[in-house]
Amino acid sequence: MMKETGKGQNQFKSSASLVIYFLRGSIGFFLLSMVFASAVSFLDMVLPGMISFTVDSVIGDKTPNLPASVLLWFENAGGVELLRRRPVLIAVSVIAVALAGAVFRFLFRYFNEVGAERFVKRIRDELFAKILRLPYAWHGANSTGDIIQRCTSDVETVKVFISEQLTSLIRVIVLIAMAIRFMWGIDPFMTKIASIFIPVVIGYSLFFYAKIGDAFEKADSEEGRLSAIAQENLTGVRVVRAFGRERFERDRFEKQNDYYTGFWIRLMRILSLNWVTGDVMTGLQYLIVNIMGAVFCVRGTVTAGQFIAFVSYNSLLIWPVRSLGRVISEMSKAGISIERILYIMNAEEETEPEGALRPPMDRDIRFEHVSFGYGGDSGEALSDVSFEIHAGETVGILGGTGSGKSTLMYLLEKLYPLQEGCGRIMIGDTDLSEISSSYVRSQIGMVLQEPFLFSRSIEDNIAITSRSYKREDVRRASKTADLLEAVDRFPSGFETFVGERGVTLSGGQKQRTAIARMLIRKCPVMIFDDSTSALDLKTEKAFREALLKEYPDVTKIIIAQRISSVMYADRVAVINDGELVACDTHDNLMKTCEIYQDICSSQMKGGEEDE
Ligand SMILES: Nc1ncnc2c1ncn2[C@@H]1O[C@H](COP(=O)(O)OP(=O)(O)OP(=O)(O)O)[C@@H](O)[C@H]1O
Ligand SMILES: [Mg+2]
Repeated sequence: MMKETGKGQNQFKSSASLVIYFLRGSIGFFLLSMVFASAVSFLDMVLPGMISFTVDSVIGDKTPNLPASVLLWFENAGGVELLRRRPVLIAVSVIAVALAGAVFRFLFRYFNEVGAERFVKRIRDELFAKILRLPYAWHGANSTGDIIQRCTSDVETVKVFISEQLTSLIRVIVLIAMAIRFMWGIDPFMTKIASIFIPVVIGYSLFFYAKIGDAFEKADSEEGRLSAIAQENLTGVRVVRAFGRERFERDRFEKQNDYYTGFWIRLMRILSLNWVTGDVMTGLQYLIVNIMGAVFCVRGTVTAGQFIAFVSYNSLLIWPVRSLGRVISEMSKAGISIERILYIMNAEEETEPEGALRPPMDRDIRFEHVSFGYGGDSGEALSDVSFEIHAGETVGILGGTGSGKSTLMYLLEKLYPLQEGCGRIMIGDTDLSEISSSYVRSQIGMVLQEPFLFSRSIEDNIAITSRSYKREDVRRASKTADLLEAVDRFPSGFETFVGERGVTLSGGQKQRTAIARMLIRKCPVMIFDDSTSALDLKTEKAFREALLKEYPDVTKIIIAQRISSVMYADRVAVINDGELVACDTHDNLMKTCEIYQDICSSQMKGGEEDE
């Protein structure tokens, strides 16, 4: 079953235990639907019995073939004589049974649907919550399109299996058992002939089971890849347009679509073969039972009424036996889908260290021999980095592209864990690894290099971390971020709806919205990862001054590639190829650090050339 790991995360040992876990809250509805389904099946069985009874005992004169207790009650109520006098009673009983059948059928469907919807709701909720708890690295390693496919298409497959196949399995078994029981009462020998086909159907379904599972797994994962291409193209529609890549992307999509369709066709071929085999088997069974029944009837071994009832029961037996085969083949598809969901549900969650600390964060930050690699073939992004950022200081981090500046800040935000033996990061006297991750992120604000905006209003985007912010706070943060003027010019002001991912804002406005979103939280440490690259020098200067004035005690870390963005900082850490070259004031660096001098002179030269 399910086990709790030491870190408090659920680990499901098997697909079955995951399904049982998801069934909490809906199992009652499924059980109710099964009860009504069984009642429907029972009534379906009673109807042929009533017809046989009428033909043999009311029209004919055979002793009614009823259980002793029912017979006693029937005789007391007037028996066959009453029915002969008042045949309308038979019609009324048939209608009553049919009506009850209809009501039960409705209740079966109703409870089944409620169960199914509650079941998928729970899966969706659990998956979404789980995905949010997964570490940043997991998201980096898995494509969004594929995750979405697992959360939609695979969830749907499991839902259909549970609500349509699994609940019908019970009904099917009840139906088969009852049909056999009634048929046995008429003629045991013919019942044996009719039932021989049950193991045959189960046998060939099992034969197809593995083939279907294999084909579905391929088709399903290709669907995931197709979703990933579609999602990537929708997200990157601007790039696709700007570079005239429509044709290329369309070809790429069509190729994947072809591939995916090929797998589906293969799956459908196997499924069709499976169904056709089933049809042939059941057709054969029907034929044999009918011919034998007719022969027995002519010979007088069974009566005409028994023959009619037997044939009716037999046709009632065929459907559930066919369904049994279907359930088995669908089970193999659902098994694959649930495994794909299990992949998400069993992924290692981001966990808080035991007895996580929450020390004050307005302390010195010390990187001590920090080394870090993203894993795979990417090598080391940082090697042996040591430097200190004093509380309340403004420190610039300068370095070429890919030098490891963002990585350094991701480590400080605990977005990636620092492996043992790869140095440590100290906040005052506390090791960062002992501090609660969510606490760290609430205290160290970061404007990401690629600001992400939600498709909500500008105000909602700024106040996203808390609903308790007042309009005044939003305006204040926006003013410092130099966004206020622009927003006030919009007809709807802060209510202006930002399109998906902020498409209706300019690059600079997006960046400033992201800055305001961070400023409003008033964290003791603030990181600006290349956040002023879209601002002109004058605006950048105004922003820098406003920041100093509004947040004098906050430790500010400013990452940039432009020297002009960091030269006014108290100190600048220069990073080159994952290594710290120097950390000093601008003036000292100009005197002692060759790389800094190079960057400075190349940027001055670049600036002059631009002019
Ligand atoms: N998720 C990741 N997986 C693997 N490698 C990564 C990942 N993110 C960054 N890297 C690699 O780590 C190195 C440092 O990247 P980082 O983003 O820290 O650079 P940076 O200094 O911030 O560059 P830039 O100024 O361009 O933003 C690069 O070589 C990059 O290719
Ligand atoms: Mg970066």
